[in-house]
Parts: sequence; C-alpha cells; structure tokens
Amino acid sequence: MKSTVDGFKKELNKRIDLETDSMEMIGDLRWEFNGGKGGPKTEVGWAVWGIITSSANPQGAETWQGGLPNIGSAKCKADTCCVWRHAALAMEKRFRGQSGRCNAAARAAVRLGFHDAGTWSKFTEDYGGADGSIILSGLAGNEDELKRGENNGLQDISRIVTDWYNKYKPYGVGMADLIQMAANVATVVCPLGPRVRTFVGRIDSDRPAVNSLLPDVHAEAPVLIDLFENKTIRVHGLVALVGAHTTSQQHFVDVNRAGDPQDSTPGIWDVEFYSETTSNSAPARVFKFPSDVKLSRDSFASSEWNEFASGQSHWNEDYAKEYVRLSLLGVNNINSLTECTRVLPPRTDKVTVSDDNNVIKQWLKGGGSKKTSENLEEGSKVTKLEK
Ligand code: HEM
Repeated sequence: MKSTVDGFKKELNKRIDLETDSMEMIGDLRWEFNGGKGGPKTEVGWAVWGIITSSANPQGAETWQGGLPNIGSAKCKADTCCVWRHAALAMEKRFRGQSGRCNAAARAAVRLGFHDAGTWSKFTEDYGGADGSIILSGLAGNEDELKRGENNGLQDISRIVTDWYNKYKPYGVGMADLIQMAANVATVVCPLGPRVRTFVGRIDSDRPAVNSLLPDVHAEAPVLIDLFENKTIRVHGLVALVGAHTTSQQHFVDVNRAGDPQDSTPGIWDVEFYSETTSNSAPARVFKFPSDVKLSRDSFASSEWNEFASGQSHWNEDYAKEYVRLSLLGVNNINSLTECTRVLPPRTDKVTVSDDNNVIKQWLKGGGSKKTSENLEEGSKVTKLEK
C-alpha cells in the first residue's frame, strides 16, 4: 500500500513539476559545471540567471544611441556591439515587407534560430545547440544539417545568413551569434513581436548536431513535451515558443497547400494563432499543424494555451524568456557573453499593415491563386486577388 502511495506522490510531484515554468540552469550557469566551478560570475551571467528565474526582464527597451561608426574603424572595433548594429540594420531591411508585415525570410530566420539551438539535449553528449552548425556543417564539407528533412525550407535563409557571415566575419562576427541575432531581429520586425534580450560571443562549431532532436509535426503531445523537457524547456515554455507559428506559412507539411498560413494574420506576431488553433471556425485557408492541435488539447498545455489566446503581453514576455533560454542551449560560456540588445530595431506595438482587408478575407476563404499567397509571404502590400 505504502509503495502505491509513494508511487502516486512521485507521479503527482512529477506532474506539478511539469506544469511549472522551468528554472533549470543551463551551460556554465549550472553550479556543477566544470567540477563545481559553475554559476553566474559576471553581469551577463547574472542577467541570464535573472531571466531564467523570472527576476529580470527578458525583453529589453534600450535602443542604439548616437551615430554609427564605420564598420572597420577603431571606434567601431572598440564596441563589440557596433558591428552587430551594422548587421542588425541589414537584417531589418531584408525582413520588413512593404506592407509592414514581416516577410518569408524573417519567419525562416526565426525557425533557423530554433533549428540550430534546438539540437541539444541533456541526455546526449554536450555538443550541438546554438553553435552555428546548421550552416557551418555543410560549409565545412561535413554531413550537412541542412540536407536533413527536418530542415526543409531553411535553405534560402541559410544562403542569406551565409552572405552576412562572409561580410561580417572579418569584423569578428560568428555564425552561431549571427543566426540568433537574425532570429531576434526578425521577431521584433514582425508587428507586435517582443524585443528579446540578445547576447553575443557563442563558440562556433562545424560538427553536425545529433540527429532527431527536433520535433515531428505529427508527434503526440506527451512526446513533444518530453522532447522539450530534455532541453530544459517545460510545457509552458513549449506552448510559448510554438506561438512563433503565428507568423508562418507552411510549405512542406502539405505541399498541395504550400503558402497556407497557420493563422489568419501571417507576418504579424499576434495571438490569433492560439485562438484559431482551438477554434472550429477558423478561416478555410488556415492550416493547423497536427502537433499544435494536439498540444493545445493536452491537459498540461491547454490552460496556458488559452491564456495566451487573450494575452499578447503575457505571451510576449513568456516567449522572450523562453527564447533567451533556447538561444543559449549548448552554450557553455554564458558568463563571457556580451549583451547587444540595443542593436535591435524598436518594436511595433500596433498593427499598421497596409493590405486591403477585404482582399485578405477573400484569400482566407480560399480565394486567389498561389501568387496572392506569395505576395503575402513577401510582405508585399496585398490589394487584389491574383488570378
Ligand atoms: C512542437 C514543436 C514544433 C513543431 C512540430 C514545428 C514544426 C514546424 C513545421 C512543420 C513548420 C513548417 C515548415 C514548412 O512546411 O514550411 C514550421 C514552421 C515554423 N516554425 Fe515550427 N515547429 C515547432 C516549434 C517551433 C518553435 C519552438 C519555433 C520558434 C521558436 C518555431 C518557429 C517556426 C516558424 C517561425 C515557422 C515558419 C517558417 C516559415 O514560414 O518559413 N517552431 N514549424
């Protein structure tokens, strides 16, 4: 009898534990790191510690002040963030569509950030994660992560990021940081997106990451929850992160519906995705991922899912917190990173896109050709249904 009760308590504790946000430390912030020599030691170490324990703001408001020194100048070299400001400006230009929505490159950049960092687990050898290997593995002639099926659709953005790498590498920019910077610039370029605190100084690697650590779109909710738990991300964190599908237009889950969005406002970082995933009356063109639907119905995930559906600022805050964690998975030198949040563009807290709403409504009902979907993907102003 006692062992049954103990077993029940253990299970209950596990469940209670599962329901909370993760406070688990990562990398060199773990006390046990390097034979007990870990823990926060520097201002940045404490900042990340604070974000993870919810005692520091995961979003940063500080913007770039003053002029921008020329990229090769001594003044620029003296400030680690200067070259990153140059890179962030180029990224912003590439990611903002004419209409005010973020474009396909922006969304792919967010996904690329996830697919580089997400290849880390507590239960595999300590490599992978946010190390740039998603692009560097192929460039070095090793097994190319980009050729893995799970990375379908990330080839174009990887070419864009590689061009930036070639341009900014001579000034000290690394691939792992560039990928995470691109994700954070892209997120804030999307109207309503959070300004996620951004750190640089990760160590690059061209060693291909362990395979099969990224989620399958057809997986059951408990499998997804377990996969992310193994990355130190608990169920609330997972629910916050998948909200990135608010901007998305899928191509490979159903190739016959390429360009169909995951909510009715692609390119906008709003909470429609959460309510439409659970609704029976989402517009016909909204394509729900099976994994999102299963997660939204899971008993550990559904209450947070429904809270986000009517809580933009709650979601932004939780997304930013979890993305800081995600973007530092596998990074064992957090204490020696530099914070460069101030290079990000300011956020847009209103949706001021210039599409014709009636045209968008027709498109969401299934009207318009592939060209209309492409115009939306590019962030172009949509004023008519293309035949
Ligand atoms: C349960 C976990 C997840 C699953 C199963 C999943 C699966 C997918 C799939 C299948 C696509 C569509 C790819 C295509 O056909 O074009 C996609 C797109 C996307 N995912 Fe996820 N994802 C997950 C979590 C995440 C997370 C954690 C993030 C970011 C933090 C993210 C960001 C994105 C973005 C931004 C897109 C749109 C890409 C584009 O429009 O090109 N996803 N995801």
